[in-house]
Amino acid sequence: MLLLLLLTNAFVLLPWAGAGRIIGGCVAKPHSRPYMAYLEIQTGSQTSRCGGFLIRPDTVLSAAHCVDKEGAVRVTVILGAHNISAQEQSQQKIPVGQWVIHPEYSSAGTKNDIVLLKVCLKQRAMINNNVQCISIAKENERVEEGAECSVSGWGQISVTGQRSDVLMEVELKVQNEQICEQVFHNYQCQSMICVGDAYSKKSPYKGDSGGPLVCNKKAHGIASYVHTYNLFPEVFTRISYFEPWIRKQLRRFALQDTPGSPFSE
Ligand SMILES: *[C@@H]1O[C@H](CO)[C@@H](O)[C@H](O)[C@H]1NC(C)=O
Repeated sequence: MLLLLLLTNAFVLLPWAGAGRIIGGCVAKPHSRPYMAYLEIQTGSQTSRCGGFLIRPDTVLSAAHCVDKEGAVRVTVILGAHNISAQEQSQQKIPVGQWVIHPEYSSAGTKNDIVLLKVCLKQRAMINNNVQCISIAKENERVEEGAECSVSGWGQISVTGQRSDVLMEVELKVQNEQICEQVFHNYQCQSMICVGDAYSKKSPYKGDSGGPLVCNKKAHGIASYVHTYNLFPEVFTRISYFEPWIRKQLRRFALQDTPGSPFSE
């Protein structure tokens, strides 16, 4: 029982410490992942950072725990970035107008860790070489054990919090679900993906939350949580399971944007 409690308390939601980069990864070729979004989340005087990814010119997908905070929260999305500390011509900085957290999201168990962020139509992203949408896995496209995928982010480069400003990427494999079931008592096969490098040399970490797990050019997962002390395995939100819910929200957004509709902004 003591062991179980220790494990439970040792969860680390990926965004807590803010900037830095992926552990064991490489610097991404600038703008090779034009769907990547950098999220600045402001609560009072505190700023935290997360990853996300563009799925429509007006919609970014990320992890719910990134925006689930006490008090008034303001979210800004930066698209087209490579070095987030530099004033790059390619960057588009867009305030998020509204977001929809999954109704069954639970912060305690990190279940249904998914959020859709929508910007006003007037401020939607300009699609160009540096800013593009990525397709998401369909309901029937469940990624299986052994699949080779990649994760990218501006999160921490080491457990101790060394920083970098540029986008990092790392290759990771989808793992057998049993590995995650053993480590995380709340792991759910249908809605989560168990991912990692069994040698624990490579991993997303704090600040990488909300970034996409990309397999075969499609977003299949959303970085959700890892253990504080072990870099293996990591849990991602399984997009295919949530695809019907995502479609429904996108239809609702489209209605909001139709002039004269009762849902208009
Ligand atoms: C990122 O940009 C900042 C500000 O221009 C610069 O000081 C820093 O060295 C850059 N980082 C890298 C890794 O190029």
